[in-house]
Amino acid sequence: MNRTFDLVKTAYVISQMEPSDEPQVALAGRSNVGKSSLINCLAGRKALAKVSSTPGKTQSVNFFRIAPGGYTLVDLPGYGYARRSQTERAKWGTLIEHFLKGNPGLKAVAVLLDVRITPQQSDLEMVSWLRHQGIPILPVLTKCDKVNQREQAARQREWRDLLGGAATPICFSSVSKQGREALWTALDEKAGAELL
Ligand code: GTP
Ligand code: MG
Repeated sequence: MNRTFDLVKTAYVISQMEPSDEPQVALAGRSNVGKSSLINCLAGRKALAKVSSTPGKTQSVNFFRIAPGGYTLVDLPGYGYARRSQTERAKWGTLIEHFLKGNPGLKAVAVLLDVRITPQQSDLEMVSWLRHQGIPILPVLTKCDKVNQREQAARQREWRDLLGGAATPICFSSVSKQGREALWTALDEKAGAELL
């Protein structure tokens, strides 16, 4: 199925975001984990979302409307980037939290984890915060082209256990496109997509 992605909004500050009833799924994860690359991979476009090897590339909340599907994918700035100034981290923390809290249409958050790195404190905090808010989590392992199947399976198990066995993470790579179809299926399902 061919999908179109339409960048409908970019918000740098809280005043640029309004709560929405429209179905949304957001992408969260530490800086550099591959959120923007995943959007580009799903869209089949190279530079729809800004990507960089320097952590902290995405500095705004970006809303992409998906058709067919009738929902919005939201690319968030990364969390847990230690080299940012405290003021900047606080500002983005507030922006992300405001977005995640203030949205009746938010159906789920895809939490991305680098397959090579064991879940970090900031990941665990994000997951427990989302659970506390009652927001469904869609776990995704990124950069799976970097490790072999055995390592993928080990990280999958580790993370599934951390989530209390609730969901098995999807192994994904925006380089090899591994997991692209599985991710579409999961996103559509979480968003309650209308594909007809
Ligand atoms: P922030 O916007 O800073 O939060 O980062 P991000 O999570 O959006 O990461 P981004 O997509 O900008 O990717 C960060 C780096 O990882 C870039 O150098 C990408 O090329 C690389 N990268 C992303 N996904 C993959 C992947 O699946 N495989 C490999 N090998 N590299 C990847
Ligand atoms: Mg980004």
